[in-house]
Amino acid sequence: MEKFAVQGGRPLSGCLRIQGSKNAALPILAATVLAGGQYSIQDVPHLTDISVMLEILTTLGAKSNHEQSVLTLDTSSLFSSHIPVDLMGQMRSSIFLMGPMLARFGEVTIYPPGGCAIGERKIDLHIQGLKALGANFTYFEDHIHCSAKELIGADIGLSFPSVGATENIMMAATLAKGKTIIRNAAKEPEIIDLQNFLNRMGAKVCGAGTAVIEIEGVERLEAVSYKVIPDRIVAGTMLLAACMTGGRLTLENIVNEHLTGLIDIVKQCGVEIEYAHDIIIVSNNVPIQPVSVVTGPYPEFPTDMQAQLMAFLALSKGTSVIRETVFDGRFKHVEALKKMGAQINIMGKEAHIQGGTAFKGAEVNATDLRGGAALVLAGLAASGTTFVNQVHHIDRGYERIERQLQSIGASIKRIQT
Ligand code: EPZ
Repeated sequence: MEKFAVQGGRPLSGCLRIQGSKNAALPILAATVLAGGQYSIQDVPHLTDISVMLEILTTLGAKSNHEQSVLTLDTSSLFSSHIPVDLMGQMRSSIFLMGPMLARFGEVTIYPPGGCAIGERKIDLHIQGLKALGANFTYFEDHIHCSAKELIGADIGLSFPSVGATENIMMAATLAKGKTIIRNAAKEPEIIDLQNFLNRMGAKVCGAGTAVIEIEGVERLEAVSYKVIPDRIVAGTMLLAACMTGGRLTLENIVNEHLTGLIDIVKQCGVEIEYAHDIIIVSNNVPIQPVSVVTGPYPEFPTDMQAQLMAFLALSKGTSVIRETVFDGRFKHVEALKKMGAQINIMGKEAHIQGGTAFKGAEVNATDLRGGAALVLAGLAASGTTFVNQVHHIDRGYERIERQLQSIGASIKRIQT
């Protein structure tokens, strides 16, 4: 196992290029199943979730090479539709393979997907959507078998704008007969990136970024080259790292409008933000004002920034409230933040954060990807040294976070335990 040793109290300053988006790259990798051929995908970050997705694809017969941030992938000779159970259980995004496998092979066997323990991770909306396209599901004790002689376009209404379900249905519908409409679709930027990738492959998808996505099925798709959008959650995490340490940080390779929800909040807290084309400059040397925030589907405040914001608001001059509406178990980082000195009360879906904290270094355990990142942020702002254990959670979404932070002045080391 490995842990981070974080020496706090150093302002973070300098320039950092933001990595490609994990949550855009993962469905795009799944979509390469839709058409055999040689893909070249730029700005794919080196993360454990990406490695697991590539391991699944190579187990199914693909060939891949991931050097620097360019990924070449050949899915011409996929020979199996049976996703290995041990790999399926390592991350949530393995479920994204259901739609593409169904479209290419007419069947797929899936096991319960893994992913962060941040609440119930149901897949009923995925199943509802694929059933509407004509898929049959047979349930066994430990797996589900899904098959379809052919996929027929359908009008599908989602009870919740699920990101994964929207992506699964989009991908399957590209090769269905006729037109599919997805209503109450997720609007995240990663959905738009998937639409752009699918259309580059020859699909006919429109409406991504709005609540209604239309897909006109086509006969075949082809392998292409593509560049993944920047990771808005990594950008937001680094932005808050600068805010919490009183630094002045330039972030490159960002899309400003993807950060609107977060930037509106940090501006309310008094942070100074300067924009340019694809860079943002953050400097904070004023007292942080408290705010009330509700997480929600894009463009509302992102649930993936909730833990990091909580660490930031612990430093504010007053009481803040964060209401988590997307996941029902996403406060697991609170105990560790309290161990570092934060004063936080959980009342149902709400966290009440009493500001004025001066974080103190402690030994804490990461419980999930974004909760772990929040503990690193608190360590950067703390007096003394913080040890963050279970850093494999953080490696799922941040490419060598310690190197990124070291490059802007942080004192953080990865230690084998
Ligand atoms: C994606 O997960 C992201 N992961 C998550 O990021 C992100 O938090 C989430 O979207 C919301 O934005 C990837 O893209 C790989 P959902 P996903 O389906 O698709 C319920 C990170 O930190 N739901 O929008 O699993 C579900 O229980 C990760 O990078 C159903 O009820 O999210 C949850 O409460 C964490 N039935 C809510 O919807 C379903 O069939 C949101 O889930 C599917 C979901």
